[in-house]
Amino acid sequence: MLLCHRLHILAVILGWALLPIQCLTIPPPQQARGLLHRRDDRAPDPIDPKIFDAILHYATYAGTYLSAPCKQPPLGAAVVAFTQNDTTATQQTIFRHSDDREVVLAFPGTANPTDIGTDLNFPHTPHPACDGCNVHQGVYEGWLSVAGQTMAQVKTAMQETPDFKFIIIGHRLVRTDSLTIGGGGSLGGGLANLAYVDMQRAGMKVDLVVSFGELAVGNQQYADHVDKIAGASDDNIGMFWRVTHSNDGVPLLPPNALTSIIGQDFIQHRTEFWAQDGPDGETANASTTFRCYGQMSQACNTGQGGIGINPAHVFYPYTVFNQT
Ligand SMILES: *[C@@H]1O[C@H](CO)[C@@H](O)[C@H](O)[C@H]1NC(C)=O
Ligand SMILES: *[C@@H]1O[C@H](CO)[C@@H](O)[C@H](O)[C@H]1NC(C)=O
Repeated sequence: MLLCHRLHILAVILGWALLPIQCLTIPPPQQARGLLHRRDDRAPDPIDPKIFDAILHYATYAGTYLSAPCKQPPLGAAVVAFTQNDTTATQQTIFRHSDDREVVLAFPGTANPTDIGTDLNFPHTPHPACDGCNVHQGVYEGWLSVAGQTMAQVKTAMQETPDFKFIIIGHRLVRTDSLTIGGGGSLGGGLANLAYVDMQRAGMKVDLVVSFGELAVGNQQYADHVDKIAGASDDNIGMFWRVTHSNDGVPLLPPNALTSIIGQDFIQHRTEFWAQDGPDGETANASTTFRCYGQMSQACNTGQGGIGINPAHVFYPYTVFNQT
């Protein structure tokens, strides 16, 4: 309890009001072991060119708009629905592309009052996906504030074109309209993650999920659950692709250096694709983008020591904005 007391004082200094409650949670020792077991620091492999092309394709949806609905849909797609919740500043747009035969649900990175970048208040909250699954409360609240409407809209869209693929995209976008870089985005990838898990639980068909600069959404059990349903392992890439860039610090948020002290780990899921810029700052391409192993490989983004919303987070490859 003395440690708890000291942490409490630190928490007050940091404005971390919920720490005293969290302090009562004792970390089960297997969490720490699990982290090591699921790490694989072998050198990443070159990306399969087909996967690189698909990432470029879906990055167009991810990077195309700043607020729902997207006014100029990319690639000749049509907007079929959108949802916005002003209270949580959470939004999505649903596109249909007849030639590509796909329906795409895209979350821009939204500004959120309980933003991860500026607020250290990120308690775990239980998630019903599995026994022991815990997730980031702020991002979960954001998803839940649009979940009912979003799932209904996706079901309607897919009933109209049942043989189309259904894809979920989440972007790390920092909102330039409000110029709140500190209070800005990063949540799009986390929202895509939570949408995927809940839609899979609801028996909805999801063919692929692609996130860019996604923060760590949940604990070890949750990351394992995501890997399991996505069919992701060190042998199989699976259907949830987590694109990271250089030393982007956001995929390492919330910071385990702080959260592991109080037994609230945040662990990333597979499969990471890591984009590196060229030696003179050239934008990443197929030969500088890699397939990583494990959940948080030191050989990829995790090992680069990036902290928070840094230039590598703000300037992502592949995701150029067309308009606002
Ligand atoms: C928007 O989010 C708030 C906070 O979660 C929630 O109370 C409200 O019901 C949501 N609005 C709609 C229309 O769902
Ligand atoms: C990919 O990027 C690297 C590093 O910037 C560069 O040397 C290479 O020529 C690029 N390849 C292509 C096909 O553009």
